[in-house]
Amino acid sequence: MEADETILSKRDSRSYSGKAISDETLQGILQAGRMSGSSKNTQPWGFIVIRDDAQKAAIAGCGNFAQHVPSAPLSIVVVLTPGGSGFDAGRAAQNMMLAAWNEGITSCPVALHKPECAHEVLGLPEDHTAAMLLAFGYPESEESRHRGIARNSMTDLVHQERW
Ligand SMILES: Cc1cc2nc3c(=O)[nH]c(=O)nc-3n(C[C@H](O)[C@H](O)[C@H](O)COP(=O)(O)O)c2cc1C
Repeated sequence: MEADETILSKRDSRSYSGKAISDETLQGILQAGRMSGSSKNTQPWGFIVIRDDAQKAAIAGCGNFAQHVPSAPLSIVVVLTPGGSGFDAGRAAQNMMLAAWNEGITSCPVALHKPECAHEVLGLPEDHTAAMLLAFGYPESEESRHRGIARNSMTDLVHQERW
């Protein structure tokens, strides 16, 4: 895909086919996260790859809206090290989701609403934070790719010089 097509057609999907994601494709996704920019290039993150069914079910229990996570063949949790910000995590997360979508793999960011649960399930050091879980899989169907919710119009969104 062209870059603009990848960016503009990326939607957050919760239905996945059973098709496995190859190790080579996974490496490409992780590489896209690794190369993300961060504040002062601190790279305040680590990425936990989850493919085990029991671990997928356990981490899904740490979110309030994570029912689809066990059906995704792959999840990656973006973990922030001390001093990292949500903006840093978001850049790495979107890079990985766009790299995946460029390979035809859809995804959905999933909030982990119960931090103690995520700490326990992921074995995180005390001062690390599970910023976001990303669920990945090939789309089940074109119709299931997203809920069809529109974005705000450019007119509503964009301001010139001042709000
Ligand atoms: C910070 C954040 C947290 C989110 N948490 C969840 C979640 O817990 N569960 C879920 O199914 N989707 C979650 N989403 C996905 C949003 O629902 C999605 O981005 C939005 O509905 C737009 O989806 P679309 O691209 O398919 O239109 C989250 C998105 C963001 C940015």
